[in-house]
Amino acid sequence: MSDQVTATPLDYAADRPGAVNPVKIMDLSIRDGHQSLFATRGRTEDMIPIAEMMDDVGFWAIETWGGATFDTMHRFLNEDPWERLRTLKRYIKKTPFSMLLRAQNLVGYRNYADDLALAFVDRAAENGMDVFRVFDALNDYRNFETVVSQIKKCGKHFQGCICYTLTEPRLGGEVYNLEYYVARAKSLETMGADSICIKDMAGLLAPYDAYALVKALKDVVTIPLHLHSHFTSGMSPMTHLKAIEAGIDIVDTCMTPYAYRTSHAALEPLVMTLLGTNRDTGFDITKLAAINETLEKEVMPKYKHLLDESKVSLIDINVLLHQTPGGMLSNLVNQLREMDALDKIGEVYKELPRVRRDLGQIPLVTPTSQIVGVQTVNNVLHDTPDERYKMITGQVKDLCYGLYGKTAIPIDPEVQKKALKGYPRGEEPITCRPAEVLEPELEKAKAEIGDLAADMDDLILYAQFPVTGKKFLEWKYGKSVVPDSVKPITLEQVKERDELLKKAKDGELLERKGDEPEKSAALRTFNVFVDNEYFNVEVDPTGESRVVPAAPVAVVPRPVSAPAAPVSARAAVEPPAAADADGTVLLAPMPGMIIKYLNNEGDTVIKGDPVVILEAMKMENSLTAPSDGVIKGIKFGSGDTVAKGDVLCVIG
Ligand code: CO
Repeated sequence: MSDQVTATPLDYAADRPGAVNPVKIMDLSIRDGHQSLFATRGRTEDMIPIAEMMDDVGFWAIETWGGATFDTMHRFLNEDPWERLRTLKRYIKKTPFSMLLRAQNLVGYRNYADDLALAFVDRAAENGMDVFRVFDALNDYRNFETVVSQIKKCGKHFQGCICYTLTEPRLGGEVYNLEYYVARAKSLETMGADSICIKDMAGLLAPYDAYALVKALKDVVTIPLHLHSHFTSGMSPMTHLKAIEAGIDIVDTCMTPYAYRTSHAALEPLVMTLLGTNRDTGFDITKLAAINETLEKEVMPKYKHLLDESKVSLIDINVLLHQTPGGMLSNLVNQLREMDALDKIGEVYKELPRVRRDLGQIPLVTPTSQIVGVQTVNNVLHDTPDERYKMITGQVKDLCYGLYGKTAIPIDPEVQKKALKGYPRGEEPITCRPAEVLEPELEKAKAEIGDLAADMDDLILYAQFPVTGKKFLEWKYGKSVVPDSVKPITLEQVKERDELLKKAKDGELLERKGDEPEKSAALRTFNVFVDNEYFNVEVDPTGESRVVPAAPVAVVPRPVSAPAAPVSARAAVEPPAAADADGTVLLAPMPGMIIKYLNNEGDTVIKGDPVVILEAMKMENSLTAPSDGVIKGIKFGSGDTVAKGDVLCVIG
């Protein structure tokens, strides 16, 4: 095969002669695309209108599952993630499905035990998964061993990822240099990988580095090379082209409506770029246009409000400056905003590389991006001049113990010692494959959830997401009422919402009137965004018709500060009374969800004892007793959402 990309006279015909070495394409629209642009809120019903057309394009594979979909679907969309696989398989019959698997982290945020990992892969294969794209956030391939053995046993395609990260502005330096990546690729091929993916989650791979990297890897491995490069920094279309010139076999793209910003480069311009060359994709542009039209008319109106429109630019040059993945940046900004500390973003940028270095210069990808990001914010908000790492998250402790695997460079010994003080598994870190110290989990999970998990798929969901998974199973089996906030909306409701938005912008929304009618069962909650302000608006249609009244009667605009939090659930929670009992109050230091209380009312604790586990930005934080005393005034329960400053309990 020649390295040169050569062009013959253009031929737009769909039946144009095939290229010598066509670039293969994997489409990411219905997984990474909506995960990157629309907070993974894409619903299965909105994938069906394009599914058969997508199957006809000729993709190498379509990414349909994995990453954050599993979490988001059951938590925010009231959808069974397993069902999505089976449903899409009915429409997409020719093209293989691909999923993103976080190795031993599966589709969650920590390393799970081997029995759960084996069961997960087995059930994913059984439900229709064909290509397992596996990555480990630390590039520690010992974390691949269990899932890969099962992928192979199921006869499926194992694609091994190398997470691409940097410590310098460009490829090189002491840690992440060409030799590092060559060594990683060799070990993946030795493990039996069917293909290798260069996973550039932050869009850091510069075009000329891509050329050098692909060339170097092509020299040492024989299996196909696949490039996954986010657009975030703006380099990825150029990076694609240089990688193609260097001989990359497969490239990831999105359909145009799902492309750019923190997502991926669009497919259509690439198809045109390669048209008539020896690397022509062979795709029919008219088919792609038809998919675009369906998406624009039938699907995008439901999601466009989720786009971050606070910025005009499609490119985030902060990524070039700070080397953080796009999702991580928006998480950091959200987290700071929720805590009314957005002015601290500059300090966060300064602290971030320090924390990353302290924690072993790890790549920044889920879950390590959250681990480093949340700890950085904690340091900026809670540290004092004479004490660093004042509030260490549970996940940082796990990382220091070795539960995520081996870091690129050793963790700072002082930070490690502080993190492991009183750590339940022991204060001495491990060096073995992390899952070796994990007890089997499935039986324990089964004992906890009982018959609410009707089959293995339910049980696997619960085992990875005990709090939200249980909530979902209760909705699924009619044990509790499904809240409006997780229900789908129709195009008609989108129109209603847009009208409301216009009224809000024009200042026509009325304040509360004297005689407030009772809310009916037809009441719906809308999230209304006005510039950067966010309102939670309840609309109750009057009379028989479903038309929104000209002057909505029950509209009470209420600015809320946390767009990500389910606001309607918060409204149902009784506002906590300020210290209504004698004692010291334990306040929520940040908005989040209660995982559990470690004590009951009446229990005696001493200052510093862990009292509540609070999940914020997907990280678990252990909140400790501010004084000695007896616990009282517990106002929340497992799964409840709390705001910053809510009284979690009183100790007196
Ligand atoms: Co990605």
